[in-house]
Amino acid sequence: MDVSEAQSAVLSLLRRVSPSALPRVIQWMRSSSEIEELTCSNAEVLLHSIADYLRDCLPVEAMVSSEKQAMENIQRIQKPTLHVDAFLYNDEIIDSLCEEGKLSRNYCMSCGSTKTAPLDFLSHSFSIPELKFLFHHALPDLNGKTLLDVGSRLGAVLYAGYVYSSASKLEGVEINAEFCDLQEEVIKKYRFFDRLQVHHSDICSQKTLLHQADVVVLNNVFEYFLNKEEQMKAWIFMYENLRNKGCLVVTVPSLKESFCKLQINIQLSQWVEEIELDTDLFVGPDTDQEALSDIHLYRVL
Ligand SMILES: C[S@@+](CC[C@H](N)C(=O)[O-])C[C@H]1O[C@@H](n2cnc3c(N)ncnc32)[C@H](O)[C@@H]1O
Repeated sequence: MDVSEAQSAVLSLLRRVSPSALPRVIQWMRSSSEIEELTCSNAEVLLHSIADYLRDCLPVEAMVSSEKQAMENIQRIQKPTLHVDAFLYNDEIIDSLCEEGKLSRNYCMSCGSTKTAPLDFLSHSFSIPELKFLFHHALPDLNGKTLLDVGSRLGAVLYAGYVYSSASKLEGVEINAEFCDLQEEVIKKYRFFDRLQVHHSDICSQKTLLHQADVVVLNNVFEYFLNKEEQMKAWIFMYENLRNKGCLVVTVPSLKESFCKLQINIQLSQWVEEIELDTDLFVGPDTDQEALSDIHLYRVL
C-alpha cells in the first residue's frame, strides 16, 4: 500500500467511527504505544541503548571539563538557553528531569516573581528522529559510500549511519580527546569497528579525509567551539578542500547563515547547490519539525 492508498484507507475507516467515539480514536492514534511501536525499529532500540549508556558517562549538560572555550562561549549567549543534548535526552526524559527539579524548561523573568518564559534549546548532537530523517529521507542510498562527520562528539551521526544506512565507511573527526575516548568505548561495546572509525584531530589537518568523503556532515560544528578567527579559518579550509564534484554536504545551520555571521565573502553558488528537503514528515514520536527544517543539504559543484 503506498502513501495515498494508506491515507484513503485510514480516512474511510475514520468516517465509519461514530462521531462521539471519533475524538477518542484520534487521541489514541496520537498517543498509543502500539502505534509508537510500529514506528520504532530495532535500529532505534539500539540507538536508545547507546544513549542510555552515554547518559551514565556524562553530566546532565553533556559537556566535559576540557571544553573550556565552549563553556565560555555558551555563557556569552545573550538569550536564556537550556543546554540539553538531544541524542541523550528526548522529551520524555527531559520531562522527568524537570519533575525531579534537575532541569527547567522555563526561566524566571524577574527574580521571585511567577512570571516565566520558555528557555531556548541548544543541543550539541542530532536527536534520534533527526538522524532517522537524515539517513532515511534526506540522503540517498549510501551503499559503498564514505560518510565523514566533522566534530563527531558523542558519535551520534556515526552510530545512526551504522544502523540506518549501508555506508561502507563512517568516519568521525573530533578535536576533543575525551569525546574520542567515549566514541571508542561505544565502538568497542557495540562491535561497530567493521565500518566505523574515529580520528582524534583538528579537521584542518585532515585534508585527505575530506577529499575521500562522499558525504560530509557539519552539525553546528565550529560556532560554539572555536573563536571567530578559528571559525573563519576552518570554514575557508572547508571551502578549499570540499571540492569533490557531487559530494553531499549536510549542515546545521545553513552555509549562508554561518558565512553571514562571520562575514565570510565567498560566492556559495559557485561552490555548492542546495537540495530542497521535504521536512513535513513524521519520523517518530519526538519529531520536531523546526529542528528538521534547520537541516540543509548541498551538492558540491
Ligand atoms: C555540535 S557538536 C557536533 C556533534 C555531532 N556531529 C552530531 O551531529 O551529533 C560539534 C563538535 O565539533 C567539535 N569540533 C569543533 N571544532 C573542530 C575541529 N576544528 N576539528 C574537529 N572537531 C571539531 C567539537 O569539539 C564538538 O564536539
